[in-house]
Amino acid sequence: MTASTPGRSLWQRHQIIEKNSILLLIGILIAVSIGGLVEVLPLFYLKSTIEKVDSIRPYSPLELMGFNIYVREGCYLCHSQMIRPLRDEVERYGHYSLAAESMYDHPFQWGSKRNGPDLARVGGKYSDDWQRDHLRNPRAVVPASIMPGYPWMEKKPLDPTHIGEHLATLALEGVPYTKDMIDDAVADAWAQGSGDDASPDFLKRYPKAIVRDLGGNKGQMTEADALIAYLQLLGTQVDFKIYDDKANIR
Ligand code: HEC
Repeated sequence: MTASTPGRSLWQRHQIIEKNSILLLIGILIAVSIGGLVEVLPLFYLKSTIEKVDSIRPYSPLELMGFNIYVREGCYLCHSQMIRPLRDEVERYGHYSLAAESMYDHPFQWGSKRNGPDLARVGGKYSDDWQRDHLRNPRAVVPASIMPGYPWMEKKPLDPTHIGEHLATLALEGVPYTKDMIDDAVADAWAQGSGDDASPDFLKRYPKAIVRDLGGNKGQMTEADALIAYLQLLGTQVDFKIYDDKANIR
């Protein structure tokens, strides 16, 4: 059959592209860019790709220091923080994660590997004592655990001197830290981490922040205080009962 034969089948015409690598490459580029445009273009017209949830606030200075320790120690290498909307996940870990719940995480901590369980809703699951014992030596509370211990954390004093600068940097990225929050960051870290009574100002800025002696060392502030403040907050910011009642899901 020659090129001029009328009524060639589609298959035969496709062979022309298949036999010419440049034509095939151009064809692939066109097909892939159509797919890309369909995915990317709508994002420019959406006001926001993250549905806002009112109760979600930025981290307090102490929680942010805990977040930094979590990143520094590479906890994300073994733990994810993203509960997928699949039945087994939801039954094990709780309500699936919302985009808004990690909107103030820079960098996000979704993780990609689960040597240990997902931590997105670990806040409030255990007591502070349990968290402290577990960090010191995981096998003291979970005999078969393969998690490494971090015994120095409860001894290493926490130095919040520069946390205000971190808040200011996150503000540049769009995290809604106000000037007062940035200016008072060091005092706010002490207010939450020392285990003494926190000022009403602090609680107004960071509603539902946990103010108690997290590290078991009243008057002092260690890395364990910060990490436990962060862990105990995880997944507690949204009251899913309100949403599920509205949607009639039980
Ligand atoms: C080598 C992998 C590994 C690393 C690194 C690791 N973990 Fe774990 N983690 C585990 C495993 C496995 C478990 C389950 C057994 C247990 O409870 O100890 C676990 C359990 C936990 C739990 C209890 C979760 C639950 O729902 O029962 C918390 C909280 C936790 N890890 C926090 C951390 C923090 C914080 C860090 C970083 C400082 C960290 N882990 C680093 C493997 C790891």
